[in-house]
Amino acid sequence: MATINDNYLKLKAGYLFPEIARRVNAFAQTNPDASIIKLGIGDVTEPLPEACRTAMIKAVEDMGDRATFKGYGPEQGYSWLREKIATQDFQARGCEIDAGEIFISDGSKCDTGNILDIFGSNNTIAVTDPVYPVYVDTNVMAGNTGSANDAGEFEGLVYLPISAENNFTAEIPSQKVDLIYLCFPNNPTGATASKDYLKTWVDYANSHGSIILFDAAYEAFITEPDLPHSIYEIEGARNCAIEFRSFSKNAGFTGTRCALTVVPKTLTGKAADGSDVELWKLWNRRQSTKFNGVSYLVQRGAEAVYSEAGQGQVKALVSFYLENAKIIREQLTEAGLAVYGGINAPYIWLKTPNELSSWDFFDKLLQTTNIVGTPGSGFGAAGEGYFRISAFNSRENVNEAMKRILEKFKV
Ligand code: MLT
Repeated sequence: MATINDNYLKLKAGYLFPEIARRVNAFAQTNPDASIIKLGIGDVTEPLPEACRTAMIKAVEDMGDRATFKGYGPEQGYSWLREKIATQDFQARGCEIDAGEIFISDGSKCDTGNILDIFGSNNTIAVTDPVYPVYVDTNVMAGNTGSANDAGEFEGLVYLPISAENNFTAEIPSQKVDLIYLCFPNNPTGATASKDYLKTWVDYANSHGSIILFDAAYEAFITEPDLPHSIYEIEGARNCAIEFRSFSKNAGFTGTRCALTVVPKTLTGKAADGSDVELWKLWNRRQSTKFNGVSYLVQRGAEAVYSEAGQGQVKALVSFYLENAKIIREQLTEAGLAVYGGINAPYIWLKTPNELSSWDFFDKLLQTTNIVGTPGSGFGAAGEGYFRISAFNSRENVNEAMKRILEKFKV
């Protein structure tokens, strides 16, 4: 009899978002007339930028002509896309990132999980609490943790609590950790990190030989000019950080799928024999073995993000969702709720009213207003008593959702 990876049995029920979808579907079945508004998973709703669509249509035509047809592409991604990313996303902000250090992929969710393939099994791993659940669950699957306690904390992980008291930015740990996941602008809290704050992490990582796994999937939502968009804006980060970026939230590619991971060639990890090994080489080996690249059509669509028209259209899309976030922040504040985030991020993090648990508030909101959000406890034990509202929806739905919440919850 084939055996299984028992680590999967340590995981809590289902992955957060499918679990929410399951509960919402059950509610919809018993309440077929309910007009449900989904502000749960951070999935975009507005059409793809015209520049991206035009580029993809042209790419389909390329595939219809033997002279321009493409078969397998380079596993790392086409150089014409990587060059544009390197110059416009990184070098333009003073980051010394070369196109050769960029790997195009089909998602940051996949990459933040897959990256564990190149790390050893005896690293001490730190995550914030609350945190994007993929970081925790993929470590559980990889066997990097023990079992979960009743609060849902996995033995072996170092949890760094984030709350309003520390501006949702974790303190530097007192112990040595080898891998640290940081996400800014933060999912789920919408918090941001200053350059000085990130410098403390880069200095910590460089002095301990640690690697920062920096998730910048929401960088396009930064509105405050002094905030860093990339960890590589911080001196020393080339020696200690891997950065993940995505086209999902800025250009609306959640269904189209395109992302990138930056692995500087200066980054090393220790082999069992004590030698230093370039992480770039390992990730390149991993990707060229287990991944065949993102489709030519999609990479042409992503490339169009960097055209003049594309830049304007992406900016408009991000501004649209940020305006939604502003409406949500203002209306929830008006309802008397304590809210955080939503200024440099598409997420609003709120304290549940009347000390309701996160899931109780989820049920109450769904039943009384037919609005779906995300329970804070789904992001970790310290998220209990909090709730996340996503700004990804039409203006009409956001306005309607806020109207319903004000009617039911205004104190
Ligand atoms: C979220 O809602 O947290 C995101 O949609 C998750 C993701 O991008 O995978």
